[in-house]
Amino acid sequence: MTGFDEPVRSWEDIPGWFQWRSGQEEAVAHFGAGDRIVEVGCYLGRSICSLAELARDRDLVIVGVDTARGSGPEGRGGTNAHAPAVNHGGGTLAGLLHRNVIACGAAAQVQLLISDSIAAAGLFADESLAWVHLDARHDYESVCADITAWRPKVRPGGWLTGDDYDEWQWPGVVQAVADTLDGAEPWSKGQWRWITPADR
Ligand SMILES: C[S@@+](CC[C@H](N)C(=O)[O-])C[C@H]1O[C@@H](n2cnc3c(N)ncnc32)[C@H](O)[C@@H]1O
Repeated sequence: MTGFDEPVRSWEDIPGWFQWRSGQEEAVAHFGAGDRIVEVGCYLGRSICSLAELARDRDLVIVGVDTARGSGPEGRGGTNAHAPAVNHGGGTLAGLLHRNVIACGAAAQVQLLISDSIAAAGLFADESLAWVHLDARHDYESVCADITAWRPKVRPGGWLTGDDYDEWQWPGVVQAVADTLDGAEPWSKGQWRWITPADR
């Protein structure tokens, strides 16, 4: 894949697979007043820059977490979809991600943590986050581990959501959500959502 150095002015110029902006619109309308939002798995920033654009006039803090090393081979075809971007940066896509956030004018809104998901979760106090969105590795064990690490960080009434809720393409995501989150439901376009109960 080429084009990583093409000019970026908006999230729509950033390579990626993000297609559930209506869900972000719902979230931005729902949360506010200093709420903190975490996206786990940012790739080159397409989804987090879209969120930042929607939240521009809102009092929201957005944190992105990514190892910047890609997810490796995964999915039905064992595709290593992030490898070209990782290789472009000599073993990390962190430079491209940061450059895209700055190019979208989102540097003041978005804080990037170059970290493994589980290690990053340990940096946040329990019930300190309004919304955590999971979009890192999509195998069963990884999604279970992400849910287990991040669920306690979401405050009552907050959302834990995730991408690629697709039985055929990503059965591990669907199974992990079913096995770990009682009451999670399909949400937006190809997403799942669990609303944290007040009395968990
Ligand atoms: C599907 S992409 C994210 C796409 C992005 N949310 C978007 O829609 O534009 C998955 C990302 O998760 C990251 N990732 C994989 N395993 C991870 C882990 N254990 N911790 C943090 N990030 C991880 C990869 O580096 C990759 O950038």
